[in-house]
Amino acid sequence: MENFSFKNTTDIRFGADRIDNELRDAVSQFGKNVLLTYGGGSIKKSGLYERVIEALDGLHVVELTGIAPNPKIESVREGQQLVKSQNIDVILAVGGGSVIDASKVIASSKFYDSDPWELVVDSSKRLTIDQLPVVDILTLSATGTEMNQGSVISNPETNQKLGTYGPNTPAISFLDPTLTYSVSKWQTAAGSIDIFSHLAEQYFDQSKNNDVKSGLIEGLMRTVIKWAPVALETPDNYDARANLMWASTMALNGLAHTGNVNGWTVHPIEHELSAYYDITHGIGLGILTPHWMTFALHADTQTQFADFGRHVWQLSGDDQIVATQAIRATADWIASLGVPTTLPGVDINQTTHFEAMAKSAVTVGQLDKAYVPLTTADVIALYEASM
Ligand code: NZQ
Ligand code: ZN
Repeated sequence: MENFSFKNTTDIRFGADRIDNELRDAVSQFGKNVLLTYGGGSIKKSGLYERVIEALDGLHVVELTGIAPNPKIESVREGQQLVKSQNIDVILAVGGGSVIDASKVIASSKFYDSDPWELVVDSSKRLTIDQLPVVDILTLSATGTEMNQGSVISNPETNQKLGTYGPNTPAISFLDPTLTYSVSKWQTAAGSIDIFSHLAEQYFDQSKNNDVKSGLIEGLMRTVIKWAPVALETPDNYDARANLMWASTMALNGLAHTGNVNGWTVHPIEHELSAYYDITHGIGLGILTPHWMTFALHADTQTQFADFGRHVWQLSGDDQIVATQAIRATADWIASLGVPTTLPGVDINQTTHFEAMAKSAVTVGQLDKAYVPLTTADVIALYEASM
């Protein structure tokens, strides 16, 4: 196990209907001027918007709406203008990962006088400036953004989708599983695959005898595998939604990678798909993950894949057989969620951009230092295997 530091100060408020009594104090402790951010309207359809507005009665509330999936830098620019001109004290982000991600960067942009895209391209700048407090109400279980410092922002003009890290995690996150009852089957499946992928990215690592991390991740993987189909079948099953929500948070609040040595692999490769084709993040991960696992399984990694098979998929037998069966079980579980499993299934029918995408993935994701290092040619081969 490698040395590590761990600190996470997000105040988690987990459970049904806590916003009605707690939201006002949670927000107003930071000031009276509130920027309320949300997406394309799901919170209006579900009635959540009215509940939020009622809870904030008496505060000065400015709204930024229309933050799109794979949030675009344009929304951040709009937000920057509002936090500065309206002297905003606190941001209340209500939505999925896209709304919360954009809000975190807007929170930094108040203290930056140039184009906020610069804060995405050179994320280290954000660590030298202040950041407004962000309170969020999570409405989709997937990204873990509710308890981490990360954001992923897209720039359609340059075909870039980049991760950026601020100094702070959200100040307070309301995790109400009932708010995810209305999430579509597509987004429920995508979110569940995203959680699983976060876990896999951190599970497959060259650190040795890191049993705390491995055991934590195996338990979280079994949780997602068990409850995602239940949530798809019965969208208002509280236990299913609650387990997915807490698994989403636990998968990416920093605990699951303690003691690790490697970075991530499938995420940077997927981010290129979303950057060029604006596809749903979790769906792209589901397409790529089984192909990456097949690529990554060799003599040196077989034991870890076999552990994955035994402890996550409850398989038995010798290492070679269990490792191969575990990859098949993963692919079958993803397919069982009713999502496309090929790139043509998400309307990517041409190989035109594969080389540029692969080059960028290798550079941005530092794939030469990955668990199993990948070259540009390897990444192209992965995209081609997904056709
Ligand atoms: O925009 P609205 O109308 O709210 O609709 C959204 C959106 O269309 C809808 N939705 C959200 N909650 C709903 C709902 N519909 C009905 N009922 C609800 N309760 O779902 C759609 C997708 O929302 P989005 O926020 O885009 O999904 P998700 O939470 O999966 O976020 C994906 C983004 O997060 C990034 C991804 O790359 C992608 O840009 N990630 C962020 C990470 C982080 N910050 O740590 C890590 C992840 O690996 C990931 O890269
Ligand atoms: Zn992800």
